[in-house]
Amino acid sequence: MRETKIITIVGAGSSRTPALVGSIVDYKERFPLEKIIFFDIDPIRMGKMQRYMELVLKQEMPECQVIFTTDKELAYTGVDAVLVQMRAGNTAMRSLDEKIPLKHGLVGQETCGPGGFAYGMRSIGAMIEMVNDIRAVNKDAWILNYTNPAAIVAVALDKVFPDDKRILNLCDQPYSMMRTYAKILGKEEHTLKAEYFGLNHFGWFTDIVGKEDNKSYFNEVMDYLGTNEFKPYNAEQRSQSWLETYKRVNKYLSFFTEYLPNTYLQYYFFPEEIVEESDPNYTRADEAVASREKDVFELCAKAEGRDTLGDLEILKGSVFGNLMIEVAESILYDLNEDFVVIVKNNGIIPNFSPDAMIEVAGTLGKDGPTTPVYGEIKPFYKGLMEGQYAYELLTVESYLEESYEKALMALTLNRSIVDPQKAKAVLDDLMEANKDYWVLK
Ligand code: G6P
Ligand code: MN
Repeated sequence: MRETKIITIVGAGSSRTPALVGSIVDYKERFPLEKIIFFDIDPIRMGKMQRYMELVLKQEMPECQVIFTTDKELAYTGVDAVLVQMRAGNTAMRSLDEKIPLKHGLVGQETCGPGGFAYGMRSIGAMIEMVNDIRAVNKDAWILNYTNPAAIVAVALDKVFPDDKRILNLCDQPYSMMRTYAKILGKEEHTLKAEYFGLNHFGWFTDIVGKEDNKSYFNEVMDYLGTNEFKPYNAEQRSQSWLETYKRVNKYLSFFTEYLPNTYLQYYFFPEEIVEESDPNYTRADEAVASREKDVFELCAKAEGRDTLGDLEILKGSVFGNLMIEVAESILYDLNEDFVVIVKNNGIIPNFSPDAMIEVAGTLGKDGPTTPVYGEIKPFYKGLMEGQYAYELLTVESYLEESYEKALMALTLNRSIVDPQKAKAVLDDLMEANKDYWVLK
């Protein structure tokens, strides 16, 4: 058996954590854990799910020690990896990130456009604090971050902790899309490998390759999408807004057929259409609370007062949970498995800013990501990415310098906004709503 490990989950009060526990259970033979520490600054939210997760782990992994805590030192001392999935400001602020821009006729989304900017500004401060807390007691733990907007968090952490080689930012969207391509092709997901480049939530698949036969399946997927609606592999479990999001990949492909776009590009290519379709009083935050959060909290409530799990279902199969565990496994056991990762460019794309945090295919081992040189990118993509990276960089600089003007420049560069008058109006509203989190002068 492999050596046992210890992990900490930060943001354990997320309604995604029970499914992450399901992934831990699924991978227990491959990734044996001796201790799991659940950490959240909000013990009430975490407490709602605590009993359920304790019972799952007691039944499935009785040898594993389980701790729930709000104590940072206890959470970070002596652990091998910290898996981070926090949301500064919780769902209430997500809701404002989505609704305030819509009032201005702008895209209301948690990671893209003005909402992504506001959330990014909150995440930067919370993530810097967390990294300092971890490093105060643990120099070696891997910090595996899924906190959004991962693009902005990655740039910020690289600026503030340039020498820390054990911080890795990740996103499950390319992984989720690969699972969908595998379904279209009738193949096992792990038999396929991606070629991919871009920034996080702003990138393209340029090839889909069979690992065994080394054959390209890209054209087969393209041909399929030319005549079939693109649906996520788990469409029956997805809310309407996610189905619309996948469908807009077909729309993108009716204009540009060179590469397969990440679903998040819809916010930059079709912002007006998305605003028109959005309900400013009911956004994705409300939908997520009414679906995933409700289901998870109801299930967890049934565990209260019980000594055994009994007939309660173990939530499993989440892409997000599986990815987190597979990433940690690949690093801690030096497996060098394939993933799409966020790394500093440094010449991977020779004709793009060396300091940008790009998203590309690579492998993960004990020293983190290994990413082959991708090669030069073509003018269309380069142009789009230069603007988006400048937006990300100015967002980070505006946070660190408390600069209102840089924030305004950032928002003006964002393709979902463009007009500086709109950028100013939305910035002023976001600043007021976020005054407990970030300040600009
Ligand atoms: C995808 C993205 C994540 C994002 C999530 C939001 O998985 O890659 O970055 O957090 O979607 O999902 P939700 O269901 O909360 O809207
Ligand atoms: Mn993501």
